[in-house]
Amino acid sequence: MREQKVKILENGPIAAGIYKMRFALPEKTDGLFCGKFVNISVGDGAHLLRRPIAICERCEENDLQTVTICYQLKGAGTQAMSRAKVGDELACVLPLGNGFRLEEGQRRVALIGGGVGIFPMVSVLKEYAGTGKDFNSYIGFRNRDAVCMADVFSSLSARAEIVTDDGSFGKKNNAVAAFLAEYESVKPDVILACGPTPMLRALKAGLKERGIAVPCYVSLEERMGCGIGACLVCVCKKSGKEENARVCKDGPVFEINEVEI
Ligand SMILES: Cc1cc2nc3c(=O)[nH]c(=O)nc-3n(C[C@H](O)[C@H](O)[C@H](O)COP(=O)(O)OP(=O)(O)OC[C@H]3O[C@@H](n4cnc5c(N)ncnc54)[C@H](O)[C@@H]3O)c2cc1C
Ligand code: FES
Repeated sequence: MREQKVKILENGPIAAGIYKMRFALPEKTDGLFCGKFVNISVGDGAHLLRRPIAICERCEENDLQTVTICYQLKGAGTQAMSRAKVGDELACVLPLGNGFRLEEGQRRVALIGGGVGIFPMVSVLKEYAGTGKDFNSYIGFRNRDAVCMADVFSSLSARAEIVTDDGSFGKKNNAVAAFLAEYESVKPDVILACGPTPMLRALKAGLKERGIAVPCYVSLEERMGCGIGACLVCVCKKSGKEENARVCKDGPVFEINEVEI
């Protein structure tokens, strides 16, 4: 993990309020694994804190190593990022966090993603493509205008269910309910999820209610400062313990029962 000046190759909208940025790394960088994230400056002098964004895709072609991130326009920081131009350089610390790892025996994998939580799921699909894993994806968006990367889920999953809150694309449902409805027929060896806190809470409650004890790993989205474990802005509580975990350094991926959500 180190700071680099990354060069923007592409930065533009892919859905309502969602931008995709691809940048080139100046130095050979190892460990750009799925579920890890970058902490990127937003490209203006007014916002000094970097923004944490999940790695969506990484690519190596000849000597060119690139990373793609996708971000939702939320506040001043992501608005500033959207104004960065091709050729601009941004300071970026990467890779950060622990990431998602699939063990060899974990063949049937359920992916659950909601909103911007779908991007780490894209990174899992791309990382493990062609390794014999069998993915069932349950992906939820607010509405049709917010839908993006549905083709990636359809092409790299054995089955992909894309749902929206209002039914304007796919079925009217949410990703957790769609997954739980199919659980018995899919019987995954492991569940990976990322999305807003209420979604992860609903997943935890749904698994508990049904007595499902399959390992389930979730990526948490906490407000962050340093991104490297020093400032403690991002702490969450460990379940049943008087201990905290730093989402940036100990996570962002945790077993769902390990932390309070
Ligand atoms: C590990 C991780 C991965 C993430 N991956 C993505 C992603 O792939 N795509 C995406 O769109 N968003 C992602 N987020 C959320 C993203 O970091 C925030 O939406 C973004 O920082 C908002 O910045 P802002 O200046 O536009 O908003 P503001 O609300 O103006 O931000 C003010 C401050 O709060 C922090 N902040 C606000 N919301 C969040 C949040 N949800 N999480 C963390 N910090 C926040 C900002 O970093 C900034 O320091 C991720 C967050 C984490 C922790
Ligand atoms: S963001 Fe500083 S410790 Fe996690």
